[in-house]
Amino acid sequence: MDWRGVHVTESAKGYIKMNLLLFSESNTQEVIDLFKSVFSASESEAEGQLIAGFVENLICTTRSQDLIGCIAREKETIVGCLFFSRFTVPGGQYAFILSPVAVSTEVQGTGIGQKLIQYGLDHLRYLHVSLVFTYGDPGYYSKTGFEKISEDIVKAPWPLSQPIGWLAQSLDGKEIQVIAGRTQCVKALNDPSLW
Ligand SMILES: CC(C)(COP(=O)(O)OP(=O)(O)OC[C@H]1O[C@@H](n2cnc3c(N)ncnc32)[C@H](O)[C@@H]1OP(=O)(O)O)[C@@H](O)C(=O)NCCC(=O)NCCS
Repeated sequence: MDWRGVHVTESAKGYIKMNLLLFSESNTQEVIDLFKSVFSASESEAEGQLIAGFVENLICTTRSQDLIGCIAREKETIVGCLFFSRFTVPGGQYAFILSPVAVSTEVQGTGIGQKLIQYGLDHLRYLHVSLVFTYGDPGYYSKTGFEKISEDIVKAPWPLSQPIGWLAQSLDGKEIQVIAGRTQCVKALNDPSLW
């Protein structure tokens, strides 16, 4: 068990006792299946298939030092997963981007997503990461410290279809300053249709 221990959340089916852990390669197939089922239920079968392919690609094509995955496990089952991948900014700050996140449909809304993100952010702080980005719903990600960021401050690697979803937070206590120039994500995220 991870040293950060056991977390308890409450759901319709009672208390959920879960472990928060770092992703390891042996979790690969279960995690791909989790993303596929969660997004098939929340969006469509096609979206489930697409995200499963994306997650497989992310795991297979990203250097281990550039990928940090976190999982929430209830008994022997993975009920939540997220990935941070290396994000290269021209200022040279050590940065990652959070994408994607999934929590098992049956236990959504019980706090697992937020606990998992906080766990991941704590791990990034431990690694002395300075900046973390994400691209998603500000209403949700603001619960774990993300704030909207203008592309005048830090550019996204591709044109954004939803600029309101461009979010960031500083992990070193310093205010995010303008970082001029192009940014770069890992290969699996380097697809304009994802932005
Ligand atoms: C989005 C998701 C990761 C959130 O995880 P979760 O464990 O269900 O969420 P939590 O229990 O931590 O947080 C619940 C809170 O977030 C809100 N919330 C949950 N999903 C949300 C969403 N997609 N947009 C905005 N708010 C959301 C809930 O309304 C709730 O708010 P409240 O605390 O004010 O009542 C999860 O619902 C999920 O996997 N959804 C389908 C896949 C997806 O959309 N992934 C994110 C994009 S990669």
